[in-house]
Amino acid sequence: MRVLLADSGAPWRADADLADDDLLALYAQEPGIRTNTVSTLDGAANGPNGVSDSINTPADNRAFMAMRANCDTILVGAGTVRAEEYGPAKPGFGRPAPLLVVVSGRGVVPATLIPPFGDGDPERGEVAFVTCASAGSEAVDTARAQLGEERVWVFGQDEVDLPAVAAQLATIGEGRVLCEGGPTLFTTLHAAGLVDEVAHTIVPHMIGGNHPRPLQGPSVDTRLALRHLIEGDGSLIGLWRVIR
Ligand SMILES: NC(=O)c1ccc[n+]([C@@H]2O[C@H](COP(=O)([O-])OP(=O)(O)OC[C@H]3O[C@@H](n4cnc5c(N)ncnc54)[C@H](OP(=O)(O)O)[C@@H]3O)[C@@H](O)[C@H]2O)c1
Repeated sequence: MRVLLADSGAPWRADADLADDDLLALYAQEPGIRTNTVSTLDGAANGPNGVSDSINTPADNRAFMAMRANCDTILVGAGTVRAEEYGPAKPGFGRPAPLLVVVSGRGVVPATLIPPFGDGDPERGEVAFVTCASAGSEAVDTARAQLGEERVWVFGQDEVDLPAVAAQLATIGEGRVLCEGGPTLFTTLHAAGLVDEVAHTIVPHMIGGNHPRPLQGPSVDTRLALRHLIEGDGSLIGLWRVIR
């Protein structure tokens, strides 16, 4: 992997392979929300198998792990957890595992979040499940029985109040948030003006067909300024900051 462009003024050499420490430095994160997306060159956000692992590349995965190592919290929608079978995060780059915060309107905890976990790994991070009042008290009680009282948060009436979730994460010291999807949650965060940085990878692959884009649904208007661009395995791996 090599840096093609970077805004930091650091002495990146375009011809040098990126070391882990350089990658961690490039993805250092301040408190706020960073989103991370991947798409094919023709704009698909998932592959033929309906999930994004069929379009990822090893270089994109390395950047993904560096972002996870730099955040306190992974924020993800229940649709992605169900499709990609997310469990609690694992540590990476020698850093502790981040908190996994899962957003669901219906309040039904995806099976992969419910302990015990097959690998029994004690270093997995914590989970918080966030739903809203319209999920109903029965769903909330079931979620609390499955995950533990303190791991189930209720914010908002008809949908999860994402500004309130962001405020809660900042209050508990978990405010460097990496949102890993999916398209529904990304779009809602952009529409609410909550996104500070956008990480996006374009993989050298075209698949046609009908697939979601990284943002889906209502229109948003987010302008971005490039912070860096990395190349690896033919993938273009960029980081942008949101212009306010
Ligand atoms: N290319 C990429 O970068 C990328 C990244 C992630 C995922 N994906 C792909 O995207 C697809 C999944 O897309 P998706 O749009 O369904 O994903 P999603 O945003 O993870 O899931 C949508 C679900 O999340 C919950 N949700 C999101 N925002 C909410 C809010 N404000 N209030 C209440 N609930 C909220 C709802 O869950 P309930 O149904 O439980 O109410 C909703 O049905 C999969 O194919 C996955 O592989 C691609």
